[in-house]
Amino acid sequence: MGNDQNQEVSIEELIRLAIDQLQFSYTPYSGFKVGAALLTKGGKIYTGCNIENAAYTPTNCAERTAFFKAVSVGEREFQAICVVGGQDGVLTDYAAPCGVCRQVMMEFCNPQQFQIILATSTQQYEIFTLQELLPRGFGPDNLA
Ligand code: THU
Repeated sequence: MGNDQNQEVSIEELIRLAIDQLQFSYTPYSGFKVGAALLTKGGKIYTGCNIENAAYTPTNCAERTAFFKAVSVGEREFQAICVVGGQDGVLTDYAAPCGVCRQVMMEFCNPQQFQIILATSTQQYEIFTLQELLPRGFGPDNLA
């Protein structure tokens, strides 16, 4: 995928990195493992996994782990995220971002441009814009 430095990061590479995160996914309660790889406009990649909690609600999704890692070191501009997930880490279906994660994406991403890659393997994926997954979303522009 294109970026500022013109170094191409392939979709396959993003998928590979997202799948690689499944090993770190902490899911003693659901067993549903999710991995994410977030690509900045500058071409850097931040990965994330879901991290569950005995109190349940503090659970952090893989997508938000990746976003918060990136934003916490100064990143603000993103071009794409790859998300993979499945029970026990077996990728049978696409794992689409939950509503909370879509809202976090809305904070930092242009909904018409930001791409969400859902994959079950490096060969099997579909790409959606944030606009498609969060139509008429509420974002920073609404408060400007
Ligand atoms: N999960 C994610 O990591 N991302 C999503 O967008 C959907 C849900 C995680 C949270 C929880 O650990 C498990 O999947 C089951 O909900």
